[in-house]
Amino acid sequence: MRSHLLNDTTAERYRRSVTEGIERVAAKLATTDRPFTGVTVDSLAPVVERIDLDRPLYDTTAALDELEDVYLRDAVYFHHPRYLAHLNCPVVIPAVVGEAVLSAVNSSLDTWDQSAGATLIERRLIDWTNERIGLGPAADGVFTSGGSQSNLQALLLAREEAKSDSYGTLRIFVSEAGHFSVKKSAKLLGLGPDAVVTVPTGNDKRMQTVALARELERCAQEGLVPMAVVATAGTTDFGSIDPLPEIAELCEQFGAWMHVDAAYGCGLLTSLRNRHRIDGIERADSVTVDYHKSFFQPVSSSAVLVRDAATLRHATYHAEYLNPRRMVQERIPNQVDKSLQTTRRFDALKLWMTLRVMGADGIGELFDEVCDLAEEGWRMLAADPRYDVVVAPSLSTLVFRYIPAAVTDPAEIDRANLYARKALFASGDAVVAGTKVTGRHFLKFTLLNPETTTDDISAVLDLIAGHAEQYLGESLVHAS
Ligand SMILES: Cc1ncc(COP(=O)(O)O)c(C=O)c1O
Repeated sequence: MRSHLLNDTTAERYRRSVTEGIERVAAKLATTDRPFTGVTVDSLAPVVERIDLDRPLYDTTAALDELEDVYLRDAVYFHHPRYLAHLNCPVVIPAVVGEAVLSAVNSSLDTWDQSAGATLIERRLIDWTNERIGLGPAADGVFTSGGSQSNLQALLLAREEAKSDSYGTLRIFVSEAGHFSVKKSAKLLGLGPDAVVTVPTGNDKRMQTVALARELERCAQEGLVPMAVVATAGTTDFGSIDPLPEIAELCEQFGAWMHVDAAYGCGLLTSLRNRHRIDGIERADSVTVDYHKSFFQPVSSSAVLVRDAATLRHATYHAEYLNPRRMVQERIPNQVDKSLQTTRRFDALKLWMTLRVMGADGIGELFDEVCDLAEEGWRMLAADPRYDVVVAPSLSTLVFRYIPAAVTDPAEIDRANLYARKALFASGDAVVAGTKVTGRHFLKFTLLNPETTTDDISAVLDLIAGHAEQYLGESLVHAS
């Protein structure tokens, strides 16, 4: 069994085994002609169940053969141009090289004696991101597992900075299009059930700052504490960017912590053409960025950034075995003092490799391309009488709904759209997402693949229309 340990004596086995795995994936990527096979849970679950985990195969080739059946054949492939569903980007090769290196070396980003070099690399990337945001000389931050954890940590700091005697009085303001992790964080942070105040958006799906001002005013009048305003720079459904400068003004006026959830919109930090769309982000107290959404990085790769490094102390606990106080005096850097996690992957290496091979402008070009594609898609949808489209894109999502010429019942239109999404997924020809807008079911394209073309968009719109029409035809037959 020792021959499986990765060490000085097994370097050759490591090379062979990993190469074999990589070759399988490369072959799969080269031949995948659809984003999905359409496999059902019912047909795949028994295949996975049948594997006897107590009877090993003792052979990498055999295990990879088996993996073909349980995973590789039926995985959802985000690199395919007709994967248009969620905020999953195709990944860049330099980052995947970083991934291979980081899992093999296996540094843990808690203390220097587990991550020499890696700690410094992560710190450089935090500083680099902070410079791009413009958070100022005292800024800091830390890599996290994703946007949800970044939001949680930011709100933890905001809660501690709010210095209220009672969590029950604390209020967080977020737009109705903000991410659900804000509500989840409030619960995890022990805030009351009314802690999150939802602020309406306008037709453009951006937070209405007049409404925010009104809510902040009400909060003050009721003797409550405005703990934080969460501005979203790229809402999950619409990509809409809240009016950051106006929100910053209100935060200053009412003494609220300004958190910008730029999990999606952070890609603009590297854009030469569109960076201005998130102007005002530099006024935040904290920012969430998800490199694994719009920097073309593999999951996980995210960070929480803060204007004032000192606020990270709220996440600091000292353990004698790990990060005793004397380490601070000895000026030995560690990241565990800043993080909610202890053992932590060296995810920063992926971004490091990306910047060193492609450069930031390279990432920005790719993100600009998908934003351009969304604008073209918007024009196509707006001109297509079969579809109703909600809002012009600020980033790269499009929310729309098939509207059959002969049907006026909104519930029947809902069912046709739901059916079309399901049928498309089952066919594997394309994958699209869905959401609700003012109580009605809509479909969603999240465009993050620069390889997707307007022809792909057009073809997928035809497929959706075909499935929806099929549903309506069948429901007519059933009704008659
Ligand atoms: C705006 C926004 N914030 C936060 C998140 C959560 O990020 P993660 O899935 O990385 O936890 C998402 C995910 O879609 C998001 O769109």
